[in-house]
Amino acid sequence: MNMDEKLHFADLSDQLLDWYAGAARELPWRIGPGARAKGVQPDPYRVWLAEIMLQQTTVLHATRYYLEFTKRWPKIEDLAGAQDEDVMAAWAGLGYYARARNLLKCAREVSALGGWPDTAESLQKLSGIGPYTAGAVAALAFGRRAAAVDGNVDRVFARLMALTDDWKAAKTRLKAVVEDLVPEDRPAEFAEALMDLGATICTPKSPNCLICPLREMCAARQEGDPGRYPIKPKKQAKPTRQGHVYILLGEAHTVLTERRPDKGLLGGMLGLPTSPWSGESCVPEFPSGANWCELGEVRHVFTHFALTLKVWRAETDETLRTTRAQASDGLPSVFAKALKLAL
Ligand code: ADE
Repeated sequence: MNMDEKLHFADLSDQLLDWYAGAARELPWRIGPGARAKGVQPDPYRVWLAEIMLQQTTVLHATRYYLEFTKRWPKIEDLAGAQDEDVMAAWAGLGYYARARNLLKCAREVSALGGWPDTAESLQKLSGIGPYTAGAVAALAFGRRAAAVDGNVDRVFARLMALTDDWKAAKTRLKAVVEDLVPEDRPAEFAEALMDLGATICTPKSPNCLICPLREMCAARQEGDPGRYPIKPKKQAKPTRQGHVYILLGEAHTVLTERRPDKGLLGGMLGLPTSPWSGESCVPEFPSGANWCELGEVRHVFTHFALTLKVWRAETDETLRTTRAQASDGLPSVFAKALKLAL
């Protein structure tokens, strides 16, 4: 942070923390500012689990999974000892399944170490923990003076500083500023306050500047159009892929499923049989059974492409893997959508 920035943001952390004392969201993985003031620290396992789930996922969607995981696996040792398939099935619907594989790997690494490392630097050596998560866990669970800079914090500071630099350079600049602003004595609340400001006031669309505790020091607001920031390069349109998904219904409410290979998209997850997914349309090659009929299409957007699958259904008198009642529970969203169409 340069001298101008230091002066400009001299009151930022005090104002932010004052606001947070009255505005903090109550979330199941938080212990709240009151408990923190008494020196209580949250279980690092719960902090970390929430952070991994909240990557690429809304608070609303992640909460149900967080509650389910902590009920089923209350301590990190419980998760470390779980069966891979159980954890992957419990993760189904959260997406980005490499996160779930790394989650298990990390739980086992921490168990083998006999406990959590407690600095951002050492946390980053664990599977699935990058700079953001390391900073968040170090600050939230261990009270370390570390910054947790994710897309929300990027947006808040791109506005506060009215950054017009190339987006990569802008992020580097704002990260240095956030790191300098983390207060020695309350790094956890500072991180949580920034998350809440980004989620409730400095939102991506129509930020609510009138009630923002930082409005007086916000350069974007002074310019008059804070929604203009962050200025990011235009996203490329996603390529599309297509294919077929086959739903074979058997005796006793069963459905044909298969475990997907560990490597690759939806790796290690339970799935429905499909054709390859490609840019070109292909003819269906049905697994077995007879009287296949086409039910319609489902669409799903992955990180790098958008997928359309034609959904086919047939029946057989065999008993197949997975009962129908539970079927969509353990399945990634794209398959749950297809199954819904068929049942
Ligand atoms: N977004 C990322 N981490 C979060 C957290 N711990 N609480 C609320 N929102 C978040």
